[in-house]
Amino acid sequence: MSKTVITFGTFDVLHIGHLRILERSKALGDRLVVGVSSDALNQSKKARDAVFDQEQRMQLVGALKVVDDVFLEESLELKGHYITEHQADILVMGDDWAGKFDHFGELCSVVYLPRTPSVSTTAIIERIAAP
Ligand code: CTP
Repeated sequence: MSKTVITFGTFDVLHIGHLRILERSKALGDRLVVGVSSDALNQSKKARDAVFDQEQRMQLVGALKVVDDVFLEESLELKGHYITEHQADILVMGDDWAGKFDHFGELCSVVYLPRTPSVSTTAIIERIAAP
C-alpha cells in the first residue's frame, strides 16, 4: 500500500538542508506532503518575519520534484489534525525536535532525521547582513 509522509517547517531562504530533509522524507514513503508555516506562525516561533512570505515559500517548496503537495501550517496545535486530514502514515521532524512529537505515534509513525550540519536560514541571513 502507498505510504504518505508528512513534514513541517518554515523553509525560508530555501537551502540545501531543506532540500535534503525533504529528499530523505520522501525516501521513507511514496508521497510527500509538506506543511509550510504561515507568516504568523513563523513570527510566533522565531520572533522575526520570514524573508519570503508564505505564498512564495509554499510555491518554492511545492515546485521541488520530491514534494507532492503543500499546505499552510497555521498552528502548532493542529499537527494531529493535519496528520489525519492528509492521511499521513509517517511524520518526519528534524532531530532538533527529538522526542517532542512522540505522542503522535497513535496516529502515525514518528521519525526524527538529523539536520544537515553547518547550514541554516538564520546563518545565511546573518552572513548576508554582515558588513
Ligand atoms: N533542516 C535540516 N537541516 C538544516 C536546517 C533545517 O534538516 N541544516 C530541517 C529542519 O529540521 C526542519 C526543516 O528543515 O525539519 C525546516 O527547517 P526551518 O526551521 O525552516 O529551517 P532552518 O534553517 O532551521 O531555519 P532557522 O535558522 O530560521 O531556524
